Amino acid sequence: MCCQTFMCSLSLSLSQTLSNSLSLSQTLSQTLKLSLSQTLKLSLKLSNSLSLKLSNSLSLKLSNSQTLSLSPFAAGGAGTGRMFYLIGLGLSDEKDITARGLEIVKRCDEVFLEAYTAILMVNSDKLEAFYGRPVTVADRELVEQQCEERLLLPAKEKDIALLVVGDPFAATTHTDLVTRCKSLGVPCQAVHNASIMNAIGCCGLQLYNFGRTVSIVFFTEQWRPDSFYAKMKANKDMGLHTLCLVDIKVKEQSIENLIKGRKIFEPPRYMTVNQCAKQLLEVEEKYGEGVCGPDSLAVGVARVGCTDQRIVFGTLSELVTVDFGPPLHSLVVIGETDEIEREVLDMYKIDDSTPRVAEEPDDLDVHCT
Ligand SMILES: C[S@@+](CC[C@H](N)C(=O)[O-])C[C@H]1O[C@@H](n2cnc3c(N)ncnc32)[C@H](O)[C@@H]1O
Repeated sequence: MCCQTFMCSLSLSLSQTLSNSLSLSQTLSQTLKLSLSQTLKLSLKLSNSLSLKLSNSLSLKLSNSQTLSLSPFAAGGAGTGRMFYLIGLGLSDEKDITARGLEIVKRCDEVFLEAYTAILMVNSDKLEAFYGRPVTVADRELVEQQCEERLLLPAKEKDIALLVVGDPFAATTHTDLVTRCKSLGVPCQAVHNASIMNAIGCCGLQLYNFGRTVSIVFFTEQWRPDSFYAKMKANKDMGLHTLCLVDIKVKEQSIENLIKGRKIFEPPRYMTVNQCAKQLLEVEEKYGEGVCGPDSLAVGVARVGCTDQRIVFGTLSELVTVDFGPPLHSLVVIGETDEIEREVLDMYKIDDSTPRVAEEPDDLDVHCT
């Protein structure tokens, strides 16, 4: 059933009242006649598996003890057993999922967790315990190379969810999945959530005053990409702040293992604020246009949205010395500020009580999600 058809709100016309909940002890397969008119809000609480065939091709499949809510806003066939969902998980732990996201996760046929563009502060088993269902960790290969056969085409027959840390469309490549769904004729819906792109406002800088966001990747001996510098300069010229999202390397192969085709993976690595600040200083040294030098004001953040989030405001050379703790980290190079921005930033000013790194920390080796 297409979006528009389902958007026509449904109202349930049953001879008896299916008021709030319907409890069935055995597997039930039944055809219900629904008349299309206004709002349908049907909540079925089922103790066993139930397959409902609604008029035309709308079919609902529910597994054990789940509550299904159908509303006209679930346009395009939510609960029809054929939908690809992109569900934002928020920033901190298993409980940051939205109520709507959780409801969908509970009744999907398969749930995947995208675990290479960002991490939560908890492992996938915590998510499984909270959601009450298995979750398959999806690496880059699955999401980017096997997405049609593993994620999208199966969604023509059943409900598939891909969980994404933060918001599915913020600083990730998941927009591509939406365009693929379109070309494959797979219905697709997103459930949004908080993202680092808006939560960064916690440091006091106004979201209105940010320019283009940049990604800072780990420099290697041979590869030190610095195209971010021109974007940061353009932001600075307009007085705008630059959010620097930092590199994450999860399930990466060494060049040698890649060439030899060996599926041996390096331990995960998460760039720190310190490493990011050092790379910015190196590139400033190269171009010398006063974009991100030692005295540039910046604010480093870690684990935004978590109870132990850390925010420190100082110069880039000061931030190199700060211990921000476990991932994830981000850095903002500050543009022009107004009085309120300065007032909030001052609350986070580096001082003697700020934890410092004894020496350059190793890449953070944390095993989340
Ligand atoms: C590729 S982006 C993915 C963003 C995610 N989809 C979202 O909506 O927040 C990942 C980068 O965002 C930043 N980031 C994500 N969550 C963060 C958090 N809770 N605290 C600080 N930085 C975070 C880090 O720089 C991380 O490497």
